[in-house]
Amino acid sequence: IDPSLDLEDEIERLKKEKNAIILAHYYQESDIQDIADYIGDSLGLSQKAATTDADIIVFAGVHFMAETAKMLSPEKKVLLPDLKAGCSLADSCPPALFRKFKEQHPNAVVVSYINCTAELKTLTDICCTSTNAVDVINSIPRDKEIIFAPDRNLGAYLEKKTGRDLILWNGSCMVHEVFSNEKITKLQLQYPDAKLIAHPECEEHILEKADFIGSTSGLLKYTKDSDADTFIVATESGILHQMELRAPDKTFIAAPPSNECACNECPHMKRNTMEKLYLCMKYEKPEVNLPPWVIKEGVKSIERMLEISE
Ligand code: 13P
Ligand code: SF4
Repeated sequence: IDPSLDLEDEIERLKKEKNAIILAHYYQESDIQDIADYIGDSLGLSQKAATTDADIIVFAGVHFMAETAKMLSPEKKVLLPDLKAGCSLADSCPPALFRKFKEQHPNAVVVSYINCTAELKTLTDICCTSTNAVDVINSIPRDKEIIFAPDRNLGAYLEKKTGRDLILWNGSCMVHEVFSNEKITKLQLQYPDAKLIAHPECEEHILEKADFIGSTSGLLKYTKDSDADTFIVATESGILHQMELRAPDKTFIAAPPSNECACNECPHMKRNTMEKLYLCMKYEKPEVNLPPWVIKEGVKSIERMLEISE
């Protein structure tokens, strides 16, 4: 890339020229969030992908999110700046193994967190995100068994919230399992008025001490509306950018990871950069494509979710 290029200007120009829309998750780097047409949580992003009239969807997020967009808008070109932007949670549930697991519980309804592969969605009855997971579980008759995949932490949280026993797949997110209880306690002593807020992908010992638990959009709303002015934030640190923009007078502290080498940035989300965003819009690749049968079978579980989330 010519170093004299103004990437912001070029991306804006390509957006108009190609009738493209940039959808970005809150965990993207700040520059990408600032240039996006829509920033949101997993639910908001899929709702936007389903309704946009753009010709090209540029997904500044991870692979399963771009796949979801493709399933919802199969006639559109869906670009992902870096195809290697995966997800440890999605990877923790390989469809072939899950199929065998499912066979052991033939009468169970399968609820999958949207953070899973497109193929897993073909084995799923209804998807959920962290915003609508409680409503999705509550929509299933109480006499039905439920398999919940792939996140064991969100699953355990849902068991508590809904009072239902779920058959849990043993997967997790590498980012939400690094937080140190001890270091958070030290921070709480240092900032006694701070609210600890956490994403439900965090482990139980963190959720137990949280003042508020929510999806990224839920956490963002809470920090803006709350009377408190200091927050310890136990989720991927990209969201601090929006929190600071929406409540500039408040203080946000990223919850510390236990190991010095660990970090609360998602390495997959952070594979996307402004340079890669520009290049993918210029050359219209890498493109996310799926076999027609995966789109046909997988989209049903997403559409069921969207029906109850309107
Ligand atoms: P939400 O934005 O839906 O809360 O999802 C968080 C996440 O881990 C996305 O990868
Ligand atoms: Fe996957 Fe976790 Fe990264 Fe979200 S934060 S994309 S769940 S690895």
